[in-house]
Amino acid sequence: MCGIIGYTGPLAARKVLIEGLSQLEYRGYDSAGIAYFGSDSSMKIVKTIGKVANLKELCKDKNDVSHCGIGHTRWATHGGVTTENAHPHEFGNVVLIHNGIIENYHQLTIDFHLEGKLVSQTDSEVAAAVLDSMYHGNPMEAIRSLVPLLEGSYAFCIMFKDHPGEIYAVRNVSPLVAAYTHSGSLIASDLTALIPYTRSYFVLPEERIVKLTAYKICMYDMEGNSREPEIMEVNWNMDAAMKNGFPHFMLKEIYEQPEALKNTILPRISRGLPDFEADQIPDAIWQDLSQIRIVACGTAMHAGMVAKAIMEPLMKIPVIVSIASEFRYEDPLIDNKTLVIIISQSGETIDTLAALRLAKSRGAKTLAIVNVKGSTIARESDYVLYTHAGPEIAVASTKAYSVQLAALYLVCCRMAYINKALTEEESINFISQLLDVIPAMEAMIHQADTIKAVVNHLVNQPDAFFIGRGLDYTFSLEGALKLKEISYIHAEAYAAGELKHGTIALIAENVPVIAIATQDKIFGKTISNIREVKARGAFVILLAKENATVDQGVADIQIRIPNINDHFTVFPIAVVLQLIAYYASLLKGLDVDQPRNLAKSVTVE
Ligand code: M6R
Repeated sequence: MCGIIGYTGPLAARKVLIEGLSQLEYRGYDSAGIAYFGSDSSMKIVKTIGKVANLKELCKDKNDVSHCGIGHTRWATHGGVTTENAHPHEFGNVVLIHNGIIENYHQLTIDFHLEGKLVSQTDSEVAAAVLDSMYHGNPMEAIRSLVPLLEGSYAFCIMFKDHPGEIYAVRNVSPLVAAYTHSGSLIASDLTALIPYTRSYFVLPEERIVKLTAYKICMYDMEGNSREPEIMEVNWNMDAAMKNGFPHFMLKEIYEQPEALKNTILPRISRGLPDFEADQIPDAIWQDLSQIRIVACGTAMHAGMVAKAIMEPLMKIPVIVSIASEFRYEDPLIDNKTLVIIISQSGETIDTLAALRLAKSRGAKTLAIVNVKGSTIARESDYVLYTHAGPEIAVASTKAYSVQLAALYLVCCRMAYINKALTEEESINFISQLLDVIPAMEAMIHQADTIKAVVNHLVNQPDAFFIGRGLDYTFSLEGALKLKEISYIHAEAYAAGELKHGTIALIAENVPVIAIATQDKIFGKTISNIREVKARGAFVILLAKENATVDQGVADIQIRIPNINDHFTVFPIAVVLQLIAYYASLLKGLDVDQPRNLAKSVTVE
């Protein structure tokens, strides 16, 4: 949450910062601001509520030359959406931007006698004030003194008024990546802001401080010793972070799914079997397990629920899925015979990271399924299986979900093969069915216009219900989340057989029910439940396989997916559910990619 960027070098800093903030805006869009050294080396600060476009407008008539500055796009935590609370924050000699939460800001306010001296309600300004009181002309010394006083998460980019041309940065939990390029030195919350300038970068480790000048970036540990950063290469290009003719990132990312699946699955197939040798994941982690715990948030957690439904019956050991924010405060029964699978697109979600740390502290083996290379979760887990979706910019997760599923299906197959729950032939067959989902997803993408037409029946309704049984129920959860978050239609997912225990009271004339019935074994049961809502006036949109026989009158509209094995229907169904949410948001005229109150990477509790 919050996007931050710093630049120092020969280019026009204001332009670099504003362009970078536009790339980072998906991380938060309540307010935006920049600070820079003007041509006379004095500090200038421009900030405003609203989106980066507002900031750009404010800056458009500024002609002074600047070569060093920092910029911030905010997702409000402490203090409302006001210009005072927008970053950068200035206190004495210090000007900084912050992503994260300083949990002990109140105590620091008391300890440093800051009452009445602050202009904002933010924890970030408190950090600026404390840093200023530590500052006696030596930036590194001051930052080193500040760090032990802070509790919470932070990524700071800091400028000191008497050190023009220099930017300092330090972080705990919240991400920062940096690059020295021919065009100067850059640092940002994520790679999307660096990609126009470089393909080489490094992840700033925790307990390190970097100093950026136009000519180099120096990294130091907390004792002041110089340290070498570990340089990494970006494996996607700028196109991946652009809309490329699509009206929204979300639609582009939905369309990218078949390709993302190929990139995630194909390099991991050897002689028809899943193979994690290149990922350096040894087969020992699949063996001698008493249970599997899957921990994640939001869409990633929904992918985990699908995986449980596939894995548990196959492996015949308990597979428990937990919401990370709950797991971290429970007293989970885990030990060294537990495999904890952590799923996260960003690799930075704070609750998921805390869950990983808890699992490790209890001796569990940990495997992270992560999209962002070098992210904290990826670096801290014992093993990592990267998904290769490329950058996901829309707040609503789409391609990350399907590649997380693909990775989980690969894991499931390898685990079953190694433990002899599947023979070699059965495993090869499993993988071949997994590959069949790619054309099945393409087929649903081709039906986008049909799906758009269906959405007309939804957009004017305040509520919608997603129902299904078994695996179909787990898909419903994701369908409801997607619709809620971008169309603001209240949506609920319900196990179809459970409706009559209460929720069916909400079904009245024309209430939309998206009924998912792709599981042959329980198809008849689901259809009976659909009849129950239909009898009470629901407007039923049925999602079923092409070959399913459905009596007339059961559904008002039907969307058919290709006839693939029951275990794999989540992939084409996901496309349908994503397109329903997308078109609902579009038809309501909402901000599809940046829905209200949300941000892409949830680095606060
Ligand atoms: O980066 P992560 O996968 O850890 O993020 C988890 C959730 O915040 C994320 O999936 C969220 O639910 C999406 N907005 C859903 O579309």
